Amino acid sequence: MKLNRNYLNLEESYLFSTVARKVSAFSAAHPEAKILRMGIGDVTLPLAPAVISAMQAAVAEMGKKETFRGYGPEQGYDFLRESIRGYYGRRGVDLDADEIFVSDGAKSDLGNILDIFDRDNTVLIPDPVYPVYVDTNIMAGRQIVFAEANADNGFLPLPDAGVQADIIYICSPNNPTGAAYSVEQLRAWVDYARARGAVILYDAAYECFVEGQGLARSIYETEGAKECAIEFCSFSKTAGFTGTRCGYTVVPKALRREGVSLNKLWLRRQTTKFNGVPYIVQRGAAAVFTEEGEKQIRENLSVYRRNAKRLCDCMDALGIFYTGGKNSPYVWFRCPGFSDSWQFFDYLLEKANVVGTPGCGFGKNGQGFFRLTAFGSEETTQEATERIKNLWKA
Ligand code: MLT
Repeated sequence: MKLNRNYLNLEESYLFSTVARKVSAFSAAHPEAKILRMGIGDVTLPLAPAVISAMQAAVAEMGKKETFRGYGPEQGYDFLRESIRGYYGRRGVDLDADEIFVSDGAKSDLGNILDIFDRDNTVLIPDPVYPVYVDTNIMAGRQIVFAEANADNGFLPLPDAGVQADIIYICSPNNPTGAAYSVEQLRAWVDYARARGAVILYDAAYECFVEGQGLARSIYETEGAKECAIEFCSFSKTAGFTGTRCGYTVVPKALRREGVSLNKLWLRRQTTKFNGVPYIVQRGAAAVFTEEGEKQIRENLSVYRRNAKRLCDCMDALGIFYTGGKNSPYVWFRCPGFSDSWQFFDYLLEKANVVGTPGCGFGKNGQGFFRLTAFGSEETTQEATERIKNLWKA
């Protein structure tokens, strides 16, 4: 018996587990403290009424002999795949329903997709970025090179012709920096990937926050992307499904490598290792794309956008350098007076009882930076900004 010793090369625990552990310890030591949680990007508004009605109707169906359903198609029911296809179509992206794979979320798929790639590939990962990309490739023992993202390039690195990579991760709008690529900038990545026969893994989990002119919501808005990119998206941030779990991955049929269709490989992987998302959840997800659902979800998103604006206003008032907050639910700022993100985390927790996420947890270029989420309630966000302002005035 041999262990996968690559696991020993990981950090002791996953970033958000470390944050949760520290907050629990602080809370146990200070039971009187009213802690404001602005760390993990978890939504706080309830599911939209249209989603709840659809789920309730599905529960009733499951309770009747005539309408009960057992195993569903591993890649998702047609009604949901068609709804997602329609959503892309309204944004000018034509997909076939069998290019869409419904899953229990983008995080799982971003890790699982690596099953279809040989270990002997070099991956290019932006730094800083969502830690799942790095950790899952360390688990596989794959070679990682980094694309440096920093204040100088607006946290939007572009390809370096001197770097050879086979698998390229792009997250836009970026977690944690909030920086979002334009369709034009993505063209450079698509050209780079096609010239090298590389594959782009494009994480679009935050696309619903994009508002800016010319910014991409899908990599398929860029010509040629269907020949080189897989896109991951989620209902978590769009429609509050963090506790309900539903996402989807698009693997275009035009994406082929070594004469093999990646769509076919992913279908083979999913039908073998995955048994699909519950019918009730998929019915709820489909309701997100109805007229009523879209309207209700827009209202929820506008609450998070207002929170993000509040956080940006706070940074502006204090003269702190930040990015994000627009086109993104995250505000990413330079730790005022601290060069170490974890020290700032402790300081903010102790002095203001506000929890955030230390930037260094997203990569070395995140050292000295900090992330706050706008997914909290309006009251929490308001109070957190007041506490932060008071702390700096003191
Ligand atoms: C985050 O806080 O970065 C996200 O909530 C993590 C995730 O979506 O898994």
